[in-house]
Amino acid sequence: MDQKAHPHGSYWLHSAPPGDPAPPPDGPFTVDVAVVGAGIAGLSTAWELARRGRSVAVLEADRIAAWVTGHTTAKLSALHTLVYDRLRRTRGPEGARLYARSQMEAIRYAAKTAQELGVDCEWEDTAAYTYAEDPARTDALKAEAEAAREAGLPAEYVTGTELPFPVAGAVRVADQAQLHPRKYLLAVAEGIQRLGGTIHENTRVTGLGEGDPCVLTTRSAAGETKVTARSVVVATHYPVFDRALLFTRLSPRRELVLAAPLDAARAPRGMYITPERNTRSLRTAPLDDGRRLLVVTGEHFTPGAGGDVEERFGRLAGWAREHFGELDFTHRWATQDNDSTDTVPLVGPFHPGSKNVYVATGFGGWGLSSGIMAGRLLGERITGGSSPWDDLYDPRRIASVVREGATFLKQQADVARHFVGDRLPSPAGPSVEQIAPGDGAVVRVSGERCAVHRDADGQLHALSARCTHLGCLVAFNRAEQAWECPCHGSRFDVRGQVVQGPAIDPLEPREL
Ligand code: FES
Repeated sequence: MDQKAHPHGSYWLHSAPPGDPAPPPDGPFTVDVAVVGAGIAGLSTAWELARRGRSVAVLEADRIAAWVTGHTTAKLSALHTLVYDRLRRTRGPEGARLYARSQMEAIRYAAKTAQELGVDCEWEDTAAYTYAEDPARTDALKAEAEAAREAGLPAEYVTGTELPFPVAGAVRVADQAQLHPRKYLLAVAEGIQRLGGTIHENTRVTGLGEGDPCVLTTRSAAGETKVTARSVVVATHYPVFDRALLFTRLSPRRELVLAAPLDAARAPRGMYITPERNTRSLRTAPLDDGRRLLVVTGEHFTPGAGGDVEERFGRLAGWAREHFGELDFTHRWATQDNDSTDTVPLVGPFHPGSKNVYVATGFGGWGLSSGIMAGRLLGERITGGSSPWDDLYDPRRIASVVREGATFLKQQADVARHFVGDRLPSPAGPSVEQIAPGDGAVVRVSGERCAVHRDADGQLHALSARCTHLGCLVAFNRAEQAWECPCHGSRFDVRGQVVQGPAIDPLEPREL
């Protein structure tokens, strides 16, 4: 697939450029609550707290919604592929009901927020579907429809959809929504500021001192400073601090996205996902010229272990054309999710002894509804209230993790393989001379493993290949021109700068 034909990255970021960045702090200051991360979870939490009269500061390493939220498919749905049949078995019927209620409440709350803020965030009420083309999967779909209905969702099993190809069956849930995630979040950020909250972009949090109060250390172009806060919320997708070893219960997953305009008459209504063929997810979004933008997602893989990602983009494009006819892709990007071992997000106190630090993570591929739910839950909790689903999402839950022991152990085995294997002598890898322009590889230089990239002009750039999070070896993703860590999903650009945590520090430069 020709990369030059798809230069734009995320459509959401391209179509909603932010204004000037909110400046970093120019000195130490004190607030009631400091929120780390300006994605959907962080800004939803800050909005909630500002509305309750708390002084709040949001500290963002990049720009608002620039990372995970700006790269999603932006479906606001309580139908999370096939979660309810699993939940009623692992958390009981009441657990499934609470999950459904909390997610539906988040969708309705987002609708109310968008209205209150008066933002045109391309909000569209629509139905969500989990479908299959393979008749062998219809029993699983029927079980999911029944479980979702039992959980309280307006769910039904159907055999017809608005897709332009036949399906064997589908779960349909009415009253869901889709939106433009960055337009929504830029308006929420403005709302927070109107209520007296502050937002600091290009401000990386590098230290957390837990206590009463807590003290955060920040790094920015203005220098290093301290932020003192009674409470802290870590909403950085993969937590940048991990006192509770949450990274043992999260696994990162990267997924590719392609977008192409469609005549409105050819565009299906609704949001769709199938677990088949390494996942395919679909929705459309309105374009200014009256057409719709088809957004297709799929081909998931562990960051740093995706093999030939260009080939994956090609497979996804081939599938989209096979199902929708000729398409001219205008944007391509990738999204990254964290799956928790028991598929339920981790939202609440950071660790068993935590009094003033909270976390929101592990949203799987459903970060919009779960991020808004997390904001509601944490807003209540930090101001002394509670939600009926506090226990369901509590990161300190143990019982369900024990029940999910097999997933937990497999995940740990994968990470342990990297932790141990990456420190053992390796068979000879490629030599520097073998690295083609635009490519990169980990090579041994004077006994040390270096991440070496050759740019389009043939210049070589060398970095330490040790991820600055916990030291696993990074691998090169040529299609996205990034170094990726398979252990917890940190990503670095070709200059070694962090583009996705949990790493905080860049890869160190090396001389060749
Ligand atoms: Fe944890 Fe790299 S992200 S070691």
